[in-house]
Amino acid sequence: MWPNAILMVSPRGYRVDYAINPHMIDTSGKLNRVIAALATAQWSALQELYETLGLKVEVLEGDSEFPDMVFCANQTFPFAGSDGKKTILLSNMKNKERRGEVAYFEKWARVRGYRVVPAPEVSFEGGGDAIWNFETNEIFGGYGFRSEQRAYDLVEDLTGRPVHRLQLCDPDFYHLDTCFAVLRGDTAVYVEEAFTAEGVDLLKSKFARLIRLSKPEALKTFAGNCFSINGKDIVLQKCSEEFRRQLTELGFQLHEVETSEFLKAGGSVFCMKQTL
Ligand code: ARG
Repeated sequence: MWPNAILMVSPRGYRVDYAINPHMIDTSGKLNRVIAALATAQWSALQELYETLGLKVEVLEGDSEFPDMVFCANQTFPFAGSDGKKTILLSNMKNKERRGEVAYFEKWARVRGYRVVPAPEVSFEGGGDAIWNFETNEIFGGYGFRSEQRAYDLVEDLTGRPVHRLQLCDPDFYHLDTCFAVLRGDTAVYVEEAFTAEGVDLLKSKFARLIRLSKPEALKTFAGNCFSINGKDIVLQKCSEEFRRQLTELGFQLHEVETSEFLKAGGSVFCMKQTL
């Protein structure tokens, strides 16, 4: 079932303060500089677009102590328990800089009556690495940089759903959502260079149509970080003409946005929300 609500974290306090992925520094090795007013405008436009597309958007205020908190795909993994109860598995963030973010989400979830499951003992970065196919009810689990493969044993136990594990092998694609997106049940987009040969075979066996996104485009536009909200409407950073044509020909409706300020921290559309 495709989600009808998402959570976003306001960009209050968002900036690039440290480099925990290769996108956060410029060619001379200096930390990227975010233009705060522009980031806020881009974030608001994205929120508005979701509302126009019929999604309910819940907002949690960011905290300037945690400059990456706006990337709220990462701190949790939501699912429906076997009894149907809305449940949230907390993440065990790999980098110390981000560990404190999780408590804000735990509090948020408890206030809203979610069942909260403590984080796995090994690192796990939630919806950045564990991605639902909402039509087939399967999960794809990236591991190697931020999440450990063993975390998916717990995810399988909790959800009762299979987790197809994909090893990530290129540091530019440190979360699965930087190089893979499910567009609809039978169609996904992926960056071949980010996966092992085994991973590519697995993806080919799981999707009737697999769109290969070039590495240069994935790095430049983060098109692999697109968000298919319902199997038809796809929200994404302004992409290449080629990618736009490919998706449009398959019947998808593209909604292109500008997320330049968030690309500076190595994130874009998919990471800037949590599906509820
Ligand atoms: N700077 C953040 C980090 O490195 C960006 C996270 C982007 N989130 C994502 N799901 N790809 O953790």
